[in-house]
Amino acid sequence: MIGLVSTFVGALLSVPVLRYILYPLTARSDESDWAEARFAASEIQMPLRLTLDLRQRDGWREVDSHPVVYILKTGDQFRAMSAICPHLGCTVSWDMGREQFVCPCHAGAFSPDGVNLSGPPPRPLDALETRMADGKLMVRYQNFRPDTRRKEATL
Ligand code: FES
Repeated sequence: MIGLVSTFVGALLSVPVLRYILYPLTARSDESDWAEARFAASEIQMPLRLTLDLRQRDGWREVDSHPVVYILKTGDQFRAMSAICPHLGCTVSWDMGREQFVCPCHAGAFSPDGVNLSGPPPRPLDALETRMADGKLMVRYQNFRPDTRRKEATL
């Protein structure tokens, strides 16, 4: 009887330990990928370069990051693109004179809507999901595997 009770209590005590160990596998990270794109209406000169404020879960830790994105507006619709070059991950910038995004590392060039025009980048700049929430533009930031033709999110 004592052995049976000990086994039961041991199993009961192991539940919180297992939950703690398995937490990174079961935690939802969807909401931590979303950040508000903060800008004033007067700033709407496209493409608009913004820094997001993200708090993401990395295993048991919470990590603050500030990725750069570009916001484009067509009519009433907003689109967002990552500023990370899909070749090897440098940050692209907008060249006013050429009216193109230009990568400083290997001279990759992208059209105003992110299509790769020249240089080694294998695909367009990565589009990011957007949604409106309470009148605010929200952007879902993700990282994507570099130097592949297909856009694949990394975990
Ligand atoms: S990292 Fe951008 S062109 Fe190579």
